[in-house]
Amino acid sequence: MSVIVDNIAELVTHDPELGMLLDAAVVVEAGRIAWVGPAGQAPAADRRIDAAGRAVVPGFVDSHAHLVFAGDRAGEFAARMAGESYDGGGIASTVSATRAASDDELRALLAGRVAELRGQGTTTVEIKSGYGLTVEDEARALRLAGEVTDETTFLGAHVVPRGVDRRAYVDLVTGPILDACAPLARWVDVFCEPASPHAFDGEESREVLLAGMAAGLIPRVHGNQLGHGPGVRLAVELGAASVDHCTYLADEDVAALADGETVATLLPAVEFSTRSPYPSARRLLDAGVTVALATDCNPGTAYTSSMPFVIALAVREMGLTPTEALWAATAGGARALRRDDIGVVRVGARADLAILDAPSHLHLAYRPGVPIASALDL
Ligand code: NIG
Ligand code: FE
Repeated sequence: MSVIVDNIAELVTHDPELGMLLDAAVVVEAGRIAWVGPAGQAPAADRRIDAAGRAVVPGFVDSHAHLVFAGDRAGEFAARMAGESYDGGGIASTVSATRAASDDELRALLAGRVAELRGQGTTTVEIKSGYGLTVEDEARALRLAGEVTDETTFLGAHVVPRGVDRRAYVDLVTGPILDACAPLARWVDVFCEPASPHAFDGEESREVLLAGMAAGLIPRVHGNQLGHGPGVRLAVELGAASVDHCTYLADEDVAALADGETVATLLPAVEFSTRSPYPSARRLLDAGVTVALATDCNPGTAYTSSMPFVIALAVREMGLTPTEALWAATAGGARALRRDDIGVVRVGARADLAILDAPSHLHLAYRPGVPIASALDL
């Protein structure tokens, strides 16, 4: 059964040949794009969706999220707004709440969050473990994540759990926890942050990533969030798909990213919720670095599921144009996940589309806080 979406005022494709189409149509068959072009030339289809003069864009690719958790940390947020700083210490309270929750409770919380994302236009989400920190709890988080996405990330090395010796935990997370989790994940991640007493330094992070790679996982890194440090250069050196946060970047970091294959994923909702300085996306683009945008949805540093909010922040605070920010939130996220079947509208790509209650993608940043985007159900 084929479906045509027509009467699209503006279709953003991110396909170099198609570009941006005005008065366009898309035909979808079996979950894939079968035809795209000017509405007047569209073939017939079994069912029709009238976009009624609205804009259609690739569905958002949220390449960084922590959605398997229980409880919240609203009090910690309020304290930060009153001047406290973030060092990752609050993660322990989410670990306790998550361990205490039943599978069904976590599954329901996760389903609610995925629905919230989709309702705002996100069609692919990467989901990390990292609030379990034991063999059973990390594996459970990845099993639950795997029920809703293929993009599962082992983040056993999120923090050293309370009461556990640092060296003993590095051995655990590169040994038995990894053994249980590797079959359940595509990616391995680490919170590389020497500035935090809870996270991992450069050498520990290297150990974690190399062990994950030896187990068949592809590396990605939380790096340079709280201060300057080794995260970005380690990510590039190991050929990580992405290094995320990049809040504090030295010239050497930018040069390494420009010379390497690693995507810089910026998470402006974190700067918003931690009162950190926003890094300049413009500096990265000018150096030739590929930039992605993601929510980092988590209860500590960014409790938002909204890619449009992230786009608006990136435009206002990071020096991206609305068009560049949309690219980073779709095609950029796809690069960060090493996918070429999403983040783009072209024949053969997944039919993952978002419709905007607006005539142009510019409205994503122009109308901040207004729920204009949603995933198209085809
Ligand atoms: O990406 N920085 C490390 N991890 C998360 C925050 C996790 C939390 O505070 O619960 C992040 O910001
Ligand atoms: Fe994160």
